[in-house]
Amino acid sequence: MPIKDIHEFITELENNGELKRVKTEVDSNLEIAEILRREMYSKGSAILFENVKGYDMPVLGNAFGSMKRLEIGLEMTDFTEIGQRIVDMTKMDIPSGFLNKIKKLPELSKMASSFPKTETSGPVTEITSTDASFDDLPILKSWPNDAGRFITLGLVATKHPETGIRNLGVYRMQVIDKTHVLMHWQKHKRGAHHGDISKDRGEKIPVAIIIGGEPATIFSSIAPVPEGLDKYLFAGITRKEGIKTVKCKTIDLDVPANAEIVLEGYVDPEDIRDEGPFGDHTGYYTPAEPFPTFTLTGIMRRKDPIYITTVVGKPILEDAYIGKVIERSFLPLIRMLHPEIVDYSMPAAGWFQGLAIISIKKRYPGQAKKVMMGLWGMGQLSLTKTFVVVDDDINVHDMNDVIWAITTRADAARDTIIINNTPTDTLDPASPLVNLGSKMGIDATQKTKEDGYEREVQQLVKVDDETKNLVDSKWSDYGL
Ligand SMILES: Cc1cc2nc3c(=O)[nH]c(=O)nc-3n(C[C@H](O)[C@H](O)[C@H](O)COP(=O)(O)O)c2cc1C
Repeated sequence: MPIKDIHEFITELENNGELKRVKTEVDSNLEIAEILRREMYSKGSAILFENVKGYDMPVLGNAFGSMKRLEIGLEMTDFTEIGQRIVDMTKMDIPSGFLNKIKKLPELSKMASSFPKTETSGPVTEITSTDASFDDLPILKSWPNDAGRFITLGLVATKHPETGIRNLGVYRMQVIDKTHVLMHWQKHKRGAHHGDISKDRGEKIPVAIIIGGEPATIFSSIAPVPEGLDKYLFAGITRKEGIKTVKCKTIDLDVPANAEIVLEGYVDPEDIRDEGPFGDHTGYYTPAEPFPTFTLTGIMRRKDPIYITTVVGKPILEDAYIGKVIERSFLPLIRMLHPEIVDYSMPAAGWFQGLAIISIKKRYPGQAKKVMMGLWGMGQLSLTKTFVVVDDDINVHDMNDVIWAITTRADAARDTIIINNTPTDTLDPASPLVNLGSKMGIDATQKTKEDGYEREVQQLVKVDDETKNLVDSKWSDYGL
């Protein structure tokens, strides 16, 4: 049975030596964050803080802070399986004849089992109230110059106001008072898009903030899934079993039944206030920018909820590992749309939107630029500032190999493209304007006459078979 909630996840992490418990009293104001960061920078454990000053609720951090923990949470070791399942579904033809239908039944039922199932109650409905306050939650202040306390791992549920397709996104929220937070959904993200549509209709948008849920649901909220795909379904595809949902009490939204806490309310797109500064995953404080306000109307929670959180800062912290799994899981989908792509890497030090290296099996001149242009038009990859395209003999995960390709196969004037005034990641500290900056593409593939390269392509240095076999056969004699 796939892991169904944070309680089970903690048990699994503990059984695998991936979780430590802290029983000493700790402060949600700065102290917990510093402990979590130190533990992450030293490649340490997930931590459950059992004694948080002023709160009766434990705090869990660094829960996804290693590949092992993600393997445990998502119950797989090869994360490309996730994207492959979606690719397989798109290839599934609906069989016509009776016999074909029978043959395809196992595949069809596999797909059906990933759909979310609505329940009338669940663990999260144990306590429901309209008398809710953000002050009851051990929400962290992470960095000394943060504008206040921020919810950092809340799954923000919205519904497309026209199509009704459900979404979950992890957007941070700054607490302003007992019943208000500022919703930092960046302009390019789906939550903000739903908010904009509601604004055009002159409506407030119902929003639920979910703490906890299946590890796969948390992962799905961060994953940049293709437009039109329900994130609850994506969570079910990831864990090979549909998640259970329940209805909110004060708004018309479905939420995971196995969550720890659900904070119900609405975002008023007309009520805009300054959010930040916040010590961000770029390693800098993102300055205050205007974002809309969320108003709390009710709470659903377990009797014994666990508050899950994360801290960000200069890479490499917890989000780097989640990003790596996203990179791996989306490879099959990217290859489906751009079949020449062999592999890609988004190094964590480049906070993911800063740099991507893509290897291709090149067949025609200009193909590297074609790939760059395609990816700059694709979902959140459109926000990536720098692309480096290399041939398929280069290992995109080995920076030495990549630097060798750039410095031996790219000519700065011929192979670099700069495109100005493009959408950029909201958090990019270097772009001239928030959300608008430039792209750089480096074509580090081998050039030939077809590319206008008139020189002879130089031969790669390589040992001959005879010498190789001789040294192989005598290797043990050398005393090395
Ligand atoms: C720890 C963490 C914090 C994040 N905070 C934000 C945020 O404040 N605002 C935002 O727009 N995206 C944030 N993201 C990224 C989004 O969760 C991510 O882009 C996701 O794909 C958005 O979902 P959407 O495509 O459905 O909008 C954060 C991601 C992580 C891992």
